[in-house]
Amino acid sequence: MNIENMDGYIPLAQNGFWQIRHPPTKSLDTTATLFNQINGETIIEVGTGMHGEMSGNSMLVWTQKTSAKRIIAIDLDQKRLDEVKEATSQYSNVELVLANGIEYLNKFSKTIDLLYLDFWAPDAEGAFPGTGRAEAYREAFIAAKDKMKTHAMILIDDTDHIHPWKHTYIVPLARENGYSVLHTGRQTLLKR
Ligand SMILES: C[S@@+](CC[C@H](N)C(=O)[O-])C[C@H]1O[C@@H](n2cnc3c(N)ncnc32)[C@H](O)[C@@H]1O
Repeated sequence: MNIENMDGYIPLAQNGFWQIRHPPTKSLDTTATLFNQINGETIIEVGTGMHGEMSGNSMLVWTQKTSAKRIIAIDLDQKRLDEVKEATSQYSNVELVLANGIEYLNKFSKTIDLLYLDFWAPDAEGAFPGTGRAEAYREAFIAAKDKMKTHAMILIDDTDHIHPWKHTYIVPLARENGYSVLHTGRQTLLKR
């Protein structure tokens, strides 16, 4: 099966990961367009790098397709930040931060228009696979929620994975807090 004839069908391997899936290009582009429509100023991306087209290379989208004043890209791995630095060197609105994204969000004191969550989180020993991500994304929302602007957006990657995964707790919690889902699939975009 190739990507053209998937027809909404995502075959899974035994480990629960996709055998074939769509890249996030359309979701990232749509998010960039909406960001500009709401006159967004600040993007925070937790989990960055230039991981390739199937992962998104999202920093190229934010720099090339939005009018953001600040694009803050956070990663635990300096090599990932270096990749982004090289790929976005002509953009003065990019800030690269070596940190744990949740800790950074807890300390962040300004407002956020777009929060892009695309980081990994390990499972605790003995926990059901994916629980670590589900809990970490909920924690990220709680850390950021009071800093989100009135019409802010939250974009979550890999939401085409079986539960529990990144979207399991954060999506219902965000909806309880006034966000609506604008699209779902390879990624989920929430806006309020
Ligand atoms: C899927 S990749 C990001 C892909 C990237 N957004 C792109 O479009 O190519 C996930 C990244 O999350 C980073 N990461 C894992 N845990 C993190 C954490 N707690 N805080 C910040 N970054 C983290 C990893 O080092 C890795 O580079």
